[in-house]
Amino acid sequence: MLPPTVCRFVATLIPVLIQLFHSPHVLAATVNITVDDMDIDNGVLRMTYEPIDAWNIGDGCGICSAHPSPAEALGGNWHDVTWWPNGTETEAPRTASLEFDGSAVYVYSIISRFPSVNTDLTFFIDDEVVGTYTWVSDGDSSFNYNVPVYSNDSIIPGAHTLKVQNGFIGGPESLLLLDYIIYS
Ligand SMILES: *[C@@H]1O[C@H](CO)[C@@H](O)[C@H](O)[C@H]1NC(C)=O
Ligand SMILES: *[C@@H]1O[C@H](CO)[C@@H](O)[C@H](O)[C@H]1NC(C)=O
Ligand SMILES: *[C@@H]1O[C@H](CO)[C@@H](O)[C@H](O)[C@H]1NC(C)=O
Repeated sequence: MLPPTVCRFVATLIPVLIQLFHSPHVLAATVNITVDDMDIDNGVLRMTYEPIDAWNIGDGCGICSAHPSPAEALGGNWHDVTWWPNGTETEAPRTASLEFDGSAVYVYSIISRFPSVNTDLTFFIDDEVVGTYTWVSDGDSSFNYNVPVYSNDSIIPGAHTLKVQNGFIGGPESLLLLDYIIYS
């Protein structure tokens, strides 16, 4: 038999421990989840690509001008999309989106350094513009891998939608080689 003071101490401790393990903030901040551009959940791609016809699966793509090394891409693949300078008001923006539950999100892309290739990205969280990324080719004829094109670790915890848009109406030609997104 334990002395009554010990029993009382343990009794007060139990609710505190339960509270601690149920607090989403304690757990959410520590676990990074990586979503690859090819990840499938319940038979559908985890990321949504729109318009789907404008996007190509990068590895083995015959009509794509960019041919980065699959060995350097997460999962051996990436999603390729181009925005042309002749894009009109009626042409749908090229977007990829991910629904996630968390308080931080990091978007990773492969960046082409080939001559005259530019990248112009706009990032939205829950349909609000939260950032941009611009790259003007330095003509090196190589690729940069695992480039963090957007990082945000100060999102209100909860369910959100991250959307990246490639190029913009009236803007220059833009190439996006989307590799993966991390959230926590
Ligand atoms: C989660 O990933 C981000 C981006 O790569 C990194 O800065 C951070 O340190 C990672 N956090 C943990 C707990 O691994
Ligand atoms: C824009 O130009 C590219 C390259 O010439 C072409 O493939 C594409 O179909 C054009 N888009 C429109 C809307 O005219
Ligand atoms: C992070 O996302 C929030 C919206 O949840 C936004 O208000 C804030 O400006 C973003 N911060 C960065 C660095 O993008």
